[in-house]
Amino acid sequence: MRIGVLTSGGDCPGLNAVIRSVVHRAVVDHGDEVIGFHDGWKGLLECDYRKLDLDAVNGILARGGTILGSSRVQPAHLVDGVERARGHVADLGLDAIIPIGGEGTLKAAHLLSEAGLPIVGVPKTIDNDIAATDVTFGFDTAVTVATEALDRLKTTAESHQRVLIVEVMGRHTGWIALHSGMAAGAHAVVVPERPFDIDELTARVGARFEHGKRFAIVVVAEGAKPREGTMDFKTAGTDIYGHERFTGVANQLSVELERRLGKEARPVILGHVQRGGTPTAYDRVLATRFGWHAVEAAHRGDFGMLTALRGTEIELVPLGKAVETLKTVPADRYDEAECVL
Ligand code: F6P
Repeated sequence: MRIGVLTSGGDCPGLNAVIRSVVHRAVVDHGDEVIGFHDGWKGLLECDYRKLDLDAVNGILARGGTILGSSRVQPAHLVDGVERARGHVADLGLDAIIPIGGEGTLKAAHLLSEAGLPIVGVPKTIDNDIAATDVTFGFDTAVTVATEALDRLKTTAESHQRVLIVEVMGRHTGWIALHSGMAAGAHAVVVPERPFDIDELTARVGARFEHGKRFAIVVVAEGAKPREGTMDFKTAGTDIYGHERFTGVANQLSVELERRLGKEARPVILGHVQRGGTPTAYDRVLATRFGWHAVEAAHRGDFGMLTALRGTEIELVPLGKAVETLKTVPADRYDEAECVL
């Protein structure tokens, strides 16, 4: 069998573990040939690839990023994108394509699969917002990085009696905010799923100081917004791919909380540090399992499917179903967290 693999969209710790696992299972156990497309779908559309053998994946398990590179280019963005992809798959004699990506990548995978290409998708995103799988690799690493940062920020916040508003990633969902906030014992968590009321947030943070505490930590997901009409709030339109561009909810919240509380407040934006560096052991294992199962699915001819973690098992979910909705933070998870903040 000849398999093409690619990594597309925002990078994520664990991508290299999937690539390595695909190569090991396919080349060593099945005697397949594997090629890796450079920079996501762009590599497939431009026929830019390299052969992946055991040497090519040697030593990459613990390495962050992706050895293949990534981009946000989607076949649907280009004139004749789908036809071009189909032509290259035929020219290269590919029997299967394994795209590893998040929401946008999986939508493109579904589109190509509907067009008849042999695709088995692997989900990735630090945001953990793909509904089809219980967990995505990268999430555990991002939460670990954010939690460590929050632990560190507590000591400086206390020294200066400050309110620190810490912005974590999560454009549509607040999973990283919720988990890191719970793990670090933050004093408020603000997520996109529940637009915040600035009066309530001020009261919550203010109550800490009234009880004699010297500092407060607020964790906010980058996509969080105030409840309609409760606070002036600026968003800055979209980026070159049409994605919403975030202006820094932490900046705006820090100005507002400082003014309302009369306490020094500072924004801290963790940004891409949450995506960089070595994956945790959990993410390496999940990524490795996804890679193994993707190759098996290809050999069985289970195309148009996505590998997914369900409980402790890796299962296959139809790509079409997998891209229907995002996995948002349910109200009861937020309530559980709120009681211990
Ligand atoms: O989708 C993952 C993610 O990390 C989001 O949380 C974040 O909004 C986005 O990627 C940032 O991506 P970029 O690398 O394009 O700035």
